[in-house]
Amino acid sequence: MCGIVGYIGKRDAYSVVIKGLKRLEYRGYDSAGIMLHDGTDLKVSKTKGKVTDLEIKAEAEGTIYGTIGMGHTRWATHGVPNDVNSHPHLSNSGKIAIIHNGIIENYEPLKKELSKRGYVFHSDTDTEVLVNLIEDVQKQEKVKLGKAVQIALNQVVGAYAIAVFDVDKPDEIVVARLGSPLAIGIGEDEFFIASDASPFIEYTSNAIYLEDEEMAIVRLHKPIKVRKIKDDTLVDPYVQELKMNLEQIEKGGYEHFMLKEIYEQPNVIKDTYRGRLSSTTGIIKMAGIEDNIEKFLQADRILIVACGTSWHAGLVAEYIIEEFTRIPVEVEYASEFRYRNPIVNQKDVVIAISQSGETADTLAAIKLAKEKGAFVFGVCNVVGSSISRETHAGAYTHAGPEIGVASTKAFTTQITVLTLIALRLAKAKGTLSKSDFFRYLNELELIPDKVQEALQTNDEVEKIAKIIKDTNNSLYLGRGYNFPVALEGALKLKEISYIHAEGYPAAEMKHGPIALIDEHMPVIVIAPKQGHYDKVVSNIQEIKSRSGKIIAVVTKGDTQVKALADHVIEIPETSDALSPLLTTIPLQLLSYHIAVLRGCNVDQPRNLAKSVTVE
Ligand code: F6R
Repeated sequence: MCGIVGYIGKRDAYSVVIKGLKRLEYRGYDSAGIMLHDGTDLKVSKTKGKVTDLEIKAEAEGTIYGTIGMGHTRWATHGVPNDVNSHPHLSNSGKIAIIHNGIIENYEPLKKELSKRGYVFHSDTDTEVLVNLIEDVQKQEKVKLGKAVQIALNQVVGAYAIAVFDVDKPDEIVVARLGSPLAIGIGEDEFFIASDASPFIEYTSNAIYLEDEEMAIVRLHKPIKVRKIKDDTLVDPYVQELKMNLEQIEKGGYEHFMLKEIYEQPNVIKDTYRGRLSSTTGIIKMAGIEDNIEKFLQADRILIVACGTSWHAGLVAEYIIEEFTRIPVEVEYASEFRYRNPIVNQKDVVIAISQSGETADTLAAIKLAKEKGAFVFGVCNVVGSSISRETHAGAYTHAGPEIGVASTKAFTTQITVLTLIALRLAKAKGTLSKSDFFRYLNELELIPDKVQEALQTNDEVEKIAKIIKDTNNSLYLGRGYNFPVALEGALKLKEISYIHAEGYPAAEMKHGPIALIDEHMPVIVIAPKQGHYDKVVSNIQEIKSRSGKIIAVVTKGDTQVKALADHVIEIPETSDALSPLLTTIPLQLLSYHIAVLRGCNVDQPRNLAKSVTVE
């Protein structure tokens, strides 16, 4: 939710900030703004729309000079997306500028108080309240910018990553975080500030990630001082070496990031299990699991918390972990869990799944589970993210940066890690026969090649997309391990093509959704040969007798479903438990092509953002 970028140094700040904003546009893209200081003047340009719209405006307004600058790309929370509500916001004196990612929950009483003192507000945002609060503190307490920010933040309730600039301190930017990510890139005689490291990856591989309730003064030619916002204690900042490279965050010849990320899946699935499993010795090695295996083995149950696509990966994991280990598993939306006073205790292991590692609801669910004494294990993609730090232990997925808002490779790598965990626990508990255990290990190692083969359905899928692209509704059905895949297929379609889609367990269709089926309704059925094949065939027959258009994902060589369906998409054979890693591929491609054919913005669908750091 919102991307922030800042730069201080010898380079042209305009280019650094604009390029950085383009990389962060996945975080929010309804408006954008930039602030530059050229040693004398402070200039701000902002606009509703994308960063490309901002470029046109900034160039027309001459907001292009300076070696210190800050920029923002917005996902609106308070106030509609328009020019005025865009960031940066200036204080009433025009001397202090702020960019903010997050929400100030108590902005109303603060605004009332400031209004009484004569402050005037031009926007509907909570952020404009914060910048004026900082100015007010500065005036009342006669303190410098850093101290004023600190005092103001101690009056604020909510979440934030902020960068603040004061014309009286033209060589520094003050940054702070609580609940929203903020990284500081450290170059030679230059500093970068950003919501994640992608805006500065080509300039430096050294970065400090601020922790919650920390702030820093980033001043040219001075070491960075990090302190606790609450009690002012100095913190020794940990400078992390980044492993990301530029190629990973660029499109690499694909038309969209989503397509590139779909095609990366054979490699990233391999990257995720590489070095962690040996199908010859049967060794599965994941430090986070090894160090805590007793906690898993003694757990009364495993509780999985996540949101969206990660929640779907959790559902797949529920089927796999219970089947392989016989440990009871429950899966819950983090947003429900955090507010319903759940029964959790020391004998529970909680697995939190999150691609970004920043999702506010998942983070809150983790904190709650920890308070209740549970051991919390994270499955995250973004290294150093808030969730990876907040959990007791964890395992990273090695999907690389996922830029397309619709999650694809994060989903399959999450399933890969969770399958490894299930196999490791099954080995320790002896709940799988030796032959089954080794069969699954071997199968897992074959998955990347099979995903590659599943990707070859692309042309066929595109043809089907052309036939059904104008539908208003669609139904996705699957059973067992592929029920969550049906949910995920439907989510992918609705989020990027804006077609209403519902995912259902195939057998549940007759309890309601069957009423929707007529000759206009495409029904996408996941029907691989393994699993509940015969039952799904019966469901397909029920759809056919009501004239529904059947698009079936089947195992290569299938004849029975082929005879019934209007279109089939053939994928390679694998075991039932691993089949979601393959069945999901054509569904990703289907939603991608439909969205492209409908002229939708695939990588930045309306109203969505990659990282949901607000509740
Ligand atoms: C859908 C999608 C979202 C995310 C959800 C959780 O394509 O990307 O549903 O899965 O917002 O995000 P993370 O995994 O970052 O916690």
